[in-house]
Amino acid sequence: MINIAILSAKGGTGKTTLAIALAHQYAVANPDREIVLIDADNQGNVGIALNVTSQNTLGAFLFEATDTLDMVRYKPDAPFLVIESGRMNLYEAEKRIHRLDAPVTYFRDRLLPEFGPRSLVIWDLPPTLSIVNDNVLHIADYVIIPTHTDYLSLTGIGNLLSYLEHFRARHAVRGHLLGIAITLHRENVTQNRLNRETLERTFPELMFRAVIPLSTAIATTAQNHLTPLEAADPRARECYSALVKEIHQRMLRFQEHHG
Ligand SMILES: Nc1ncnc2c1ncn2[C@@H]1O[C@H](COP(=O)(O)OP(=O)(O)OP(=O)(O)O)[C@@H](O)[C@H]1O
Ligand SMILES: [Mg+2]
Repeated sequence: MINIAILSAKGGTGKTTLAIALAHQYAVANPDREIVLIDADNQGNVGIALNVTSQNTLGAFLFEATDTLDMVRYKPDAPFLVIESGRMNLYEAEKRIHRLDAPVTYFRDRLLPEFGPRSLVIWDLPPTLSIVNDNVLHIADYVIIPTHTDYLSLTGIGNLLSYLEHFRARHAVRGHLLGIAITLHRENVTQNRLNRETLERTFPELMFRAVIPLSTAIATTAQNHLTPLEAADPRARECYSALVKEIHQRMLRFQEHHG
């Protein structure tokens, strides 16, 4: 089982869009494997964007309102499974988790038994530092940070790296930071170009080469209930596909070196 956390300490950085793209491409490339996209954000944006609704959501399951966890298949030709957040239930579950003796290992103990040994689980996380993020970091094999190239997004990366360091100092986690993905960029805006260059200078090993431009086709996927790999503009589909391939290559390279 592999857990991939899509994490950022800033809102609106493209976490949900990237998580959906990753789930879609992995499902198409691995039809025999269980690919699960979990919406762990009480905004519930995965369910909204993909027009998926279910009864036994992540929130309901964690809140112990149900013993069943619904995994809804997105589409026959994009056969990944979606676990909806359950919004208010997830919010209530979070408050309850805080009161447990071992709050950070609750997902490991309560959720992981639900998945098969060959499952690939992609976590779309909330933009805040929270007990949900802590729980997912505890079980994550890989972490991916999406970012824009505006000033506040750059400062968000600094905050996130501090959080990761802080977390690692307190908990034994194996999560490997795979890289930082630019999920919305305007190369013709000087400030954005300079910020991209700063990112590449500061994190030469971490930056993914595929850069996602600002794209109306990507911006409208959510309201059209499509994934970025179903976007109307082929360039949008291709750039997301290139990013997912690069993510996959880095995972393979890491597995080769670390078993
Ligand atoms: N490359 C892009 N070009 C244009 N719009 C984009 C692009 N990528 C994402 N968007 C849009 O930007 C908004 C934020 O993206 P998304 O919801 O994926 O971010 P997020 O990090 O999950 O946000 P939150 O922190 O609120 O969960 C969405 O409306 C999305 O459709
Ligand atoms: Mg989101």
